[in-house]
Amino acid sequence: MDVLVPLLQLLVLLLTLPLHLLALLGCWQPLCKTYFPYLMAVLPRKSNHKMESKKRELFSQIKGLMGASGKVALLELGCGTGANFQFYPAGCRVTCLDPNPHFEKFLTKSMAENRHLQYEQFVVAPGEDMRQLADGSMDVVVCTLVLCSVQSPRNVLQEVQRVLRPGGVLFFWEHVAEPQGSWALMWQQIVEPTWKHIADGCCLTRETWKDLEKAGFSEVQMERQPSLFKWLPVGPHIMGKAVK
Ligand SMILES: C[S@@+](CC[C@H](N)C(=O)[O-])C[C@H]1O[C@@H](n2cnc3c(N)ncnc32)[C@H](O)[C@@H]1O
Repeated sequence: MDVLVPLLQLLVLLLTLPLHLLALLGCWQPLCKTYFPYLMAVLPRKSNHKMESKKRELFSQIKGLMGASGKVALLELGCGTGANFQFYPAGCRVTCLDPNPHFEKFLTKSMAENRHLQYEQFVVAPGEDMRQLADGSMDVVVCTLVLCSVQSPRNVLQEVQRVLRPGGVLFFWEHVAEPQGSWALMWQQIVEPTWKHIADGCCLTRETWKDLEKAGFSEVQMERQPSLFKWLPVGPHIMGKAVK
């Protein structure tokens, strides 16, 4: 398996050479940043349909974090098109953050469809550097299908800790690596260098549960779920919450 993976990686790389050349020349990324929001306007509809009851159950816990004011400050980290808005209870004051400004028009549409929420601002920045958000300013951070794509999950989780108030909660739903030694993991390793370009930096083989466990939260709860996407190399998911 040790020799097979790099050999097959090379084969996939050769078959998709134009893509890698464009990436090397710096032409691919701007293109990807433009088309990816269109893709994300379609894909979450399917995943939300399959995940509806699980997401509702997870985000129903937000109500318990509302103070006497009945309000909660929520940061949607790597917000994309705003696919989670429909699951949030009324009383959420939502700040959106994403490094890709091309999501804004899709976000605006989701905001118009979810008038039970109050929208604060759309911050164009990476999760690794959220300096525009004050320390302890958020009651809740939500992060779904994002830690696979960030440059540094460790730095993002540090920033999440900084912006959360004590007792604040990170809710997450992320896809992760298939089990060690499985054929499915080998397949992920083979296609990952190409997949990363197609899916805007998405890594298939991250063991994100380890980053969450090591990030210094006072409590981490998560469940593992089977892969949702039958025809994609995207692996199983972890869903849960981490309390600051
Ligand atoms: C697969 S999409 C998920 C979008 C949305 N959270 C959802 O569940 O539909 C990944 C998102 O992460 C964003 N992203 C990529 N790198 C990021 C980073 N360093 N910090 C924050 N968000 C990032 C992308 O722009 C994109 O919106």
